[in-house]
Amino acid sequence: MKLVALSSSIVAGFAALMLVGPPSARADNAAQAPIGGIEESVDIDLLLSRMTLDEKIGQLVQRMGGRSKSLNSRLGPDELDRVRRGEVGSYLHVAGAEPLRELQRVAVEESRLGIPLLFSMDVVHGYRTIFPVPLAMAASWDPDAARQHARIAAREASAAGLHWTFAPMVDVARDPRWGRIVEGAGEDPYLGSRMAAAQVHGFQGDSLAAPDTIMAGTKHFGAYGAAEGGRDYAGADLGERALQETYLPPFHAAVEAGTASFMTAFNALNGVPTTGNEALLRTMLREDWGWQGLLLSDWRAVEELQAHGVAESRQDAAALAMRAGVDMDMVSDIYADDLRAAIEADPALLPLLDGAVRRILTVKRDMGLFADPYAYHDAGREASVMLSGSHRQAARKVAQQSIVLLQNDADVLPLARNAGRIALIGALADDALSQLGSWRAQGQEGDVVTLRAALEAAHADVIYTTGVDTRSDDTSGIVAAVTAAEAADVIVVALGEDYDWSGEARSRSSLELPGRQSELFEALAATGKPLVVVLMGGRPLAIPEIAEKADAVLMTWLLGIEAGPAIVSTLFGENNPGGKLPASFPRTTGQVPVNYDHLPSGRPADPDLSRDTARYMDQPITPLYAFGHGKSYTDFAYGPLRLDNARMPADGGSATVSLDVTNAGDRAGDEVVQLYVRDPVASVSRPVMQLRGFQRVSLAPGETRRVSFTLRADQFALWSAGGDWIVEPGVIEIMVGSASDDIRTRGEVVIEGSAPGSIAPAAIATTTRAQ
Ligand code: NOJ
Repeated sequence: MKLVALSSSIVAGFAALMLVGPPSARADNAAQAPIGGIEESVDIDLLLSRMTLDEKIGQLVQRMGGRSKSLNSRLGPDELDRVRRGEVGSYLHVAGAEPLRELQRVAVEESRLGIPLLFSMDVVHGYRTIFPVPLAMAASWDPDAARQHARIAAREASAAGLHWTFAPMVDVARDPRWGRIVEGAGEDPYLGSRMAAAQVHGFQGDSLAAPDTIMAGTKHFGAYGAAEGGRDYAGADLGERALQETYLPPFHAAVEAGTASFMTAFNALNGVPTTGNEALLRTMLREDWGWQGLLLSDWRAVEELQAHGVAESRQDAAALAMRAGVDMDMVSDIYADDLRAAIEADPALLPLLDGAVRRILTVKRDMGLFADPYAYHDAGREASVMLSGSHRQAARKVAQQSIVLLQNDADVLPLARNAGRIALIGALADDALSQLGSWRAQGQEGDVVTLRAALEAAHADVIYTTGVDTRSDDTSGIVAAVTAAEAADVIVVALGEDYDWSGEARSRSSLELPGRQSELFEALAATGKPLVVVLMGGRPLAIPEIAEKADAVLMTWLLGIEAGPAIVSTLFGENNPGGKLPASFPRTTGQVPVNYDHLPSGRPADPDLSRDTARYMDQPITPLYAFGHGKSYTDFAYGPLRLDNARMPADGGSATVSLDVTNAGDRAGDEVVQLYVRDPVASVSRPVMQLRGFQRVSLAPGETRRVSFTLRADQFALWSAGGDWIVEPGVIEIMVGSASDDIRTRGEVVIEGSAPGSIAPAAIATTTRAQ
């Protein structure tokens, strides 16, 4: 092996550190094999040995290049001087192939070591082509749709000069008061794990070094979704079993899928703020799980260790986060300003610093940035790739797949093409911005086709009126809405939440329709006309009055730029809704959490047996719409369940479950076949049911398909009282059906012997396939 200076001016700053030579020689000298097999790889050890303490700290600093709604706005001369001095490792809230090429040029050509920068942004459900919000995508129960969305988002974001997104958000959320439920996959660790892995694969592709892939920043590591009372940023108090079995599996799935980075949660877990939690981050994530990627704090979360009351000073906060294993400090500048003093006070931090720098340089190398720092800055590609026809088409398809038919009494839907006059009512029907959700990246209001625009284009006789909006107390529009409804053959009313009712810091104490929308709904219901509710928003809502009085209810979330066409095609039956709820809908706010996989009680709810059972005095115990619920315009029949093995060894055993599913109606449609399991007797009490497999299948009228699931013994592992994963012997009940409250066929399998389980079994141990 020899070190040779490369001639290219692009790489002048670190030319002397590049390894050039036969691949075998290079492999011997690379710090760690790059994911994408880059031709010329930097010698990270050599680079590290040449860095000053300040240059090392500089790599740990992520600064704001702008704000999320005014990108690049802070990139003035002072900022460029910081880059020249090697004081910055990464920027967020930046975009644009050309401006970022120039910023990268300053880093590479004008700083002493020429280390390239990482450019990042929240690309959560699309960059320019905005897809449905993540909770909606989870309602598709189609991981491949989620993967494709991430692939397209990566293609567009990378063309705009970005290397890194802060997504997927994989926090399990069981309290819809928490506004950030919109950003994740809902209440279930298994569905969440499948969606997490799919998106990591989509963003990162086969090679991080490919210029059209970006690094996934899976977030928010820990138990952010368990915030007490659904209040954003509040702490989570969780038993170890709930943490391991419910909140961590999607993160583990992201590790398995190769996520190159994680972001830490803002909140505290059992009193320990996550960003300073050494046991969770350094010991569990890094040592036990063996994950070696880049760990980033959330926004000012290092600084907030002081407000949490675990650090007395900024220096203290720097030391705590470094000990915990946080590699990069998002915008608080604590590492920039105070880590040096912390290291001087405690030299044991120095090797930890080196570890952090090494991980950051490694991802820069794996991204191919040392080989070509400008690979992401091709203005021609940026101009051609955005919002292409195929991207828009994909956004429509995912939007259609995400719609959930909550109810359809008397088959009011689909509407006939000659439905007569349609009264379209509700501010949300004409609200383009809301369909973009709370993380809209570079999505433009003008790209959105609203429900109103799409319905008016598809149907000749539509009268539109607002009625009320979601925020004001003005009810003066209700009279006009009723007049329009009375003159119509059918009412379609859009109700729910606009984009700003959910998202970060958008917690609610009530899950009812905001504003005066209930009054509007009651007035429309009183007309007696056929009434279709198109429910929009970013969280499950408590809508018992709608369930009682509407003829049909479609949950359409916030569906992105193709919201209107997706909804209209569903109203008229060109799209047969096949989405299923990724989170239960409660009857009232006071019912939360109402997740399907609760533990049995010593006194299970049974009002007929005794009043003294686990029930409410004023409400049924069941949710309004259960996890996994979603109807169709056709019916599906389930055949009996078959198992190839009635017994399986705990250690490495598996069994195949199969059944026939038939479309028994006269319309083509999709069914999500769901497989749940229960361990009725174990050393610790087990949930009444747990999802362990699902498959979305498309069936023509009359068509029968055999659906198979391969279950591994590992999938029945539990977090034992002793604090370990274990597979125990005994019977496992298997339930397959159309929803968690609509089981159609059952069976059981016996586990023989016991064995240690793998980490986070829900995440990793399943293959499902349709044959
Ligand atoms: C704070 C949010 O919690 C996080 O999800 C986001 O990625 C960062 N801000 C950066 O915008």
